Amino acid sequence: MAPGRSLPSVNAPGERLPLRRLVTLLPLGLVLAGCGSKQDSLRPASPQSHSIATLWWIMLAGSAVGLAVVVGILIASWVKRREEGRDRPGTITVLVLGIATPILVLVALFSYSDIFLIRGTSPPPANAAAPGGGNELTVHVTGHQFWWEVSYGGTAVTANELHIPVRTPVVVTVHSDDVIHSFWVPQLNRKIDLEPDQVNRVELYADHAGRFRGQCAEFCGLQHAHMGFYVFADPPGVFRRWLAAQRKPATKPLPSLFDQKCSSCHAIRGTSAHAHVGPDLTHVASRTSLAALTIPNTPEHMREWLAETQHVKPGALMPQVDLTRAQVNTLTAYLETLK
Ligand code: CUA
Repeated sequence: MAPGRSLPSVNAPGERLPLRRLVTLLPLGLVLAGCGSKQDSLRPASPQSHSIATLWWIMLAGSAVGLAVVVGILIASWVKRREEGRDRPGTITVLVLGIATPILVLVALFSYSDIFLIRGTSPPPANAAAPGGGNELTVHVTGHQFWWEVSYGGTAVTANELHIPVRTPVVVTVHSDDVIHSFWVPQLNRKIDLEPDQVNRVELYADHAGRFRGQCAEFCGLQHAHMGFYVFADPPGVFRRWLAAQRKPATKPLPSLFDQKCSSCHAIRGTSAHAHVGPDLTHVASRTSLAALTIPNTPEHMREWLAETQHVKPGALMPQVDLTRAQVNTLTAYLETLK
């Protein structure tokens, strides 16, 4: 958009939103609310998410029945009051409407969700023997403003993209490096908070191969909305090859420009860059996105990210590094070799 041109106004102040516009905006609202095709808790891909989706439908049905009962009694008492010429609803109506119906509906829904469904979405206890003789994989995720550090036993470290073997239980342990975040992959399991002083756990199990979008689900600052990630569920052989490749150090020597401009924040294993302020870049070119799913990982976007960091992701904790166009090109060419 040309500078100085403002976005066309959707609605003038004080003007009421026409019904037709509300109807056309509704699908957009649903997409923005997390019901989009790529991040949909009603399209479950694991036993845990099936339970959660079932619970959602039961809660919807339960609340619809509860609402229907309350509205029905309200209408009946209104009609009866006018017939009998009373100015207040009867005691029985108040007891049924205000106390008995909510207690019955809420106790039934709570018992069903807590006792029968939600407990099944928890990971096995930390000291339990893993199914299959202790081979259960554990991945550690650290939350940062505003990106995800992903570590496989410290030997392979990546960012914003988890890979897991399909149809295999994977325990994800999480904690935060700064404020509280929340790790949520709607198609795979429920949310789990990332806290600075506590390690929490959630199990991921994908019953088919694919890419599942996740999102930080706890407001954590300016770029909370751009704190996304992907979980790739790969066939076991593909996963093992991916992990072996990620464990390898970088083979290219570190350019002096990277050493001057970037190595106080980033690590590239196998070189003199060891800092852990920002993401580990050892295999950055193997990732599909940059800046926690803000932009795709292409050479053009990498150049844009280096040259205009605060324009691409305003408020990101990566500062605007002072680079000439030639330096941006040099760094991009090097980073693109880190497959
Ligand atoms: Cu991290 Cu919201």
